[in-house]
Amino acid sequence: LVIIFNTVHDPLTASIGFGILGGSTTWLIIPMLTESFLNAKRTGRDAHKLTKPILPESMGVIAATVYLICLFLFIPFPFMDYFTGQHILSRKEPFHTPTFPHNKLGEFLSALLSLQSMILLGFADDVFDIRWRYKLLLPTIASVPILINYYVGSGETHISVPIPLRFIFGQILDLGPLYYVYMGMMAVFCTNSINIMAGINGVEVGQSLVIATSIAANDLLFLNAFDQTVETHLFSLFFLIPFIGVTIGLMIHNWFPARVFVGDTYCYFAGMTFAVVSVLGHFSKTLLLFFIPQIFNFIYSAPQLFKLVDCPRHRMPDFNPRTNKLEYSTVRLEQPLSPVSSIVIKLFTLLRLVEIKHEKEEIVVNNFTLLNLILLKFGPMHERTLASISPPALRRALARLAR
Ligand code: UD1
Ligand code: MG
Repeated sequence: LVIIFNTVHDPLTASIGFGILGGSTTWLIIPMLTESFLNAKRTGRDAHKLTKPILPESMGVIAATVYLICLFLFIPFPFMDYFTGQHILSRKEPFHTPTFPHNKLGEFLSALLSLQSMILLGFADDVFDIRWRYKLLLPTIASVPILINYYVGSGETHISVPIPLRFIFGQILDLGPLYYVYMGMMAVFCTNSINIMAGINGVEVGQSLVIATSIAANDLLFLNAFDQTVETHLFSLFFLIPFIGVTIGLMIHNWFPARVFVGDTYCYFAGMTFAVVSVLGHFSKTLLLFFIPQIFNFIYSAPQLFKLVDCPRHRMPDFNPRTNKLEYSTVRLEQPLSPVSSIVIKLFTLLRLVEIKHEKEEIVVNNFTLLNLILLKFGPMHERTLASISPPALRRALARLAR
């Protein structure tokens, strides 16, 4: 890695420096600002503890602010060779163009503008508790700057068709304006899918850290190529490394037992970071591979999100004070069910994704979220265990279940 860092580009070293600086600053200043958030009544109740303590909410805004400062200060680094005249001496085609690459600077600034708008809108959501239908709109608005930049930049709207569908659409398909709709929807999906897989200590930051490190690892694999892909993956790393830094700084305070909540601000900030790097890095399809649990959670949640089945304000697991463990939370549905609810429940029963209890005029079913499903399949769990349940642990549990 050291060889790659030193030979390909210096700004990467600067980015790592900003990542470390941003992470330690976030870690240090969060405890200093806790009191101010409590005084301003930016608080939430930790639902899964015996005493239900009140914790400062929306602390993700601190991580996001530190992140923005780091990236603002980082702006000159990728262009340093142009300031020093080094680009003429080194002639490192295709990395160095003869004149200053205003398009690259524009790309960087549009990404920052989208992120900054998303952080502002996310904080507004935390303060005003915006309705779900508007929540879906916020990331679309924030993605406009990167979409315009994409349009004036490559503007590429062709996609390579997956092999099984090639006999219908051919090898390459031009989506035209639909491609922009798709990219806007990526921003909506990335932000909201992180926000709805939430409600237990550390799970918002935990999943974001896993996704960010996976994308960064994928980017590193492209660094020894010698074409334009190096540039796009470097661009992605410049945004992800400081993100990983501030996320770790925040996670130390949000992991079980949490001392702060991250808020919707953090979920939107994290999701938008992933959308920005994938859109401008041209790997939005690859990004979906790193979102498999969130895609499952989103599809599973869809009947409740789109109100086909009742959706309570909070769907996070329930805390059982006698066992100190989490159990799956439920929703009561009045009988007779509407035809659509009935189809959904039948389908989920067939797929073994739901547990139904009949009570007088009502039926009681688990809320349709991945966290509740894990508790349904593997039984009550401690909050920390549920947040850190890893694929190997899941595999072991599945193997136990199969025996
Ligand atoms: C989304 C989910 C909601 C879930 C909530 C949890 C959907 C449609 N919405 O709503 O079901 O209950 O996230 O964040 O799926 N909290 C804890 N412990 C934690 C984290 C949060 O008790 O570790 C509680 C706190 O009271 C906190 C509140 O959840 O104040 C935050 O909820 P908020 O982020 O405002 O909910 P939504 O994002 O609207
Ligand atoms: Mg939330």
